Amino acid sequence: MSQTLIKNIHLLVTNDPALGKSELGLIENAGMVIENGKISWVGASESAPTAEKTIDAAGKAVIPGFVDSHNHLIFAKDRATEFSARMKGENYSAGGIATTVAATRKASDDDLLSNASRLVHEGLNSGTTTVEIKSGYGLTVKDESRSLHIAKQLTDETTFLGAHVVPSEYKGRADEYVDLICEQMITQVRPYAKWIDVFCDKGAFTTEQARKILKAGVAAGLKPRLHANQLQQGDGIALGVEVGAASVDHVSHFNSQDIEKLAASKTVATLLPGAEFSTRSIYPDARRLISAGVKVALASDCNPGSSYTTNMPLMIALAVREMFFTPEQALWSATKGGALALQRDDVGHLAVGARADFVILKESSYIHLAYRPGVNLIDEVWQHGKRI
Ligand code: NIG
Ligand code: FE
Repeated sequence: MSQTLIKNIHLLVTNDPALGKSELGLIENAGMVIENGKISWVGASESAPTAEKTIDAAGKAVIPGFVDSHNHLIFAKDRATEFSARMKGENYSAGGIATTVAATRKASDDDLLSNASRLVHEGLNSGTTTVEIKSGYGLTVKDESRSLHIAKQLTDETTFLGAHVVPSEYKGRADEYVDLICEQMITQVRPYAKWIDVFCDKGAFTTEQARKILKAGVAAGLKPRLHANQLQQGDGIALGVEVGAASVDHVSHFNSQDIEKLAASKTVATLLPGAEFSTRSIYPDARRLISAGVKVALASDCNPGSSYTTNMPLMIALAVREMFFTPEQALWSATKGGALALQRDDVGHLAVGARADFVILKESSYIHLAYRPGVNLIDEVWQHGKRI
């Protein structure tokens, strides 16, 4: 099989502290060899082995591809009018989800697939090489199951979010809808889903309902994750830790007990600065989590309501400016942190054996991702060892 050497990398981020400086495993003047879609050698450029093909990355930085662990891509129609109303002073509420549910139910499978595929490619072009996709705009047995069937064509990281909101036909009968999820939906979606998620928040599902749904999902072989504390302080983080969730997501509100629980667990806190940006909400202070030892991921939360962007470099810039991450912490959270949130050890780092998913930046350092916000710094994106 052919080998490709990337030589003269000004700064290589491996995310493996055994390979280089700091948590980012930084190597200056590095080389990296790719073979069979994986990394087969990493080290100093001058000691790199020869390869059939060589690429000179002089002056540029190479980073792992972004692992965007939280997205809602199976939907029809956008909600630009709702965004505009918010920017004129309206508040964001979970209620807007119903608008997208109505449009999604009416859309054809082909339209849903081509819209989601467009967004996956948009993300790929900005450096996202692993993407998670949730259902949650179908909310019937048939529409949730087709949403996940479509999502599965685009990624292995598929999440059943039938518990996004209570659909209008179940208004006032939330517990009956919870039973529908537990008794029928989980079985139908199981072949297409890896994860189960619940929006546990004001206007969505209570902690008790969320616990019941997550337990039913786990019993059926799905792995738990949770939308927790986006809109208000609640028990979502505690519940996520209790059920061994891979990640609790949003966590825009948390208290010191939440921090202690997360720090003592394996549950990742996934922060979604695009949601704070697009709902004009207060950003959480990531320093409180990181300094307590909580593992933190960053994701784009691409969806037509609260965060209509696939751009991970923007998430890094917002996280640094608004959530007090350092540039190093933000890059780690958008790569290795996302991999931990998806319990993946083959992506999010660039050590021997890892998937050859990486980005060559136009600049000499990853710092520029936050330092030059809004500028396209992506020179090349490689996925499974192939330049896209
Ligand atoms: O993650 N929080 C719940 N779900 C989405 C928003 C969905 C929508 O507004 O359509 C989120 O932000
Ligand atoms: Fe979400």
